[in-house]
Amino acid sequence: MNILAVGDIVGENGVKKLKETLLNIKSKYNIDFVIVNAENSAGGMGITTSIFNDLKEMKVDVITMGNHTWGKKDIFSFIDNPIIIRPANYSKGVVGKGYGIYECKGKKIAVINLIGRTDMPIQSDNPFTAVQEIVDSISSNVDIIVVDFHAEATAEKIAMKYYMDGKVTALFGTHTHVQTADEEVTKNRNRLYY
Ligand SMILES: [Fe+2]
Ligand SMILES: [Fe+2]
Repeated sequence: MNILAVGDIVGENGVKKLKETLLNIKSKYNIDFVIVNAENSAGGMGITTSIFNDLKEMKVDVITMGNHTWGKKDIFSFIDNPIIIRPANYSKGVVGKGYGIYECKGKKIAVINLIGRTDMPIQSDNPFTAVQEIVDSISSNVDIIVVDFHAEATAEKIAMKYYMDGKVTALFGTHTHVQTADEEVTKNRNRLYY
């Protein structure tokens, strides 16, 4: 199973670039499942209905969000669509859902979206306890768990890496709009308990 995770798509130019390149990337790397973070896709803040439709047409499997989730009011008309998730550690009662479970090639893939608390301009619940609760509730029913941790501080992301090591299949970070290229296969990779 090859999963592609695309960090924050910024503005209409970002959407255009994805349109131009996604098919080639998918065929070059044999991609089965695509996750994109679209919190900045509409002029840098939020997502519109037309961009949401564009991403669906591009066969993006899951759209994750972040601190700009509510940047455009359009989102309230499609926030309940299964392919879009927003940070799971928003306060209880906020519309939308923080994770989804999807089928791909006979496997069940869970995608969880989280938001950090360090230097983040919005307040949220604890992402560590939130992700643990979700993992505990779904791990026996899924084959793969992928987490998009939308956070500012490298340290918070690294702490999440240690916390989730052996509990999820993959964790990637979004929000900072820079390539860090610090991917790593972690110590407890063979100790997945699900
Ligand atoms: Fe962003
Ligand atoms: Fe962000």
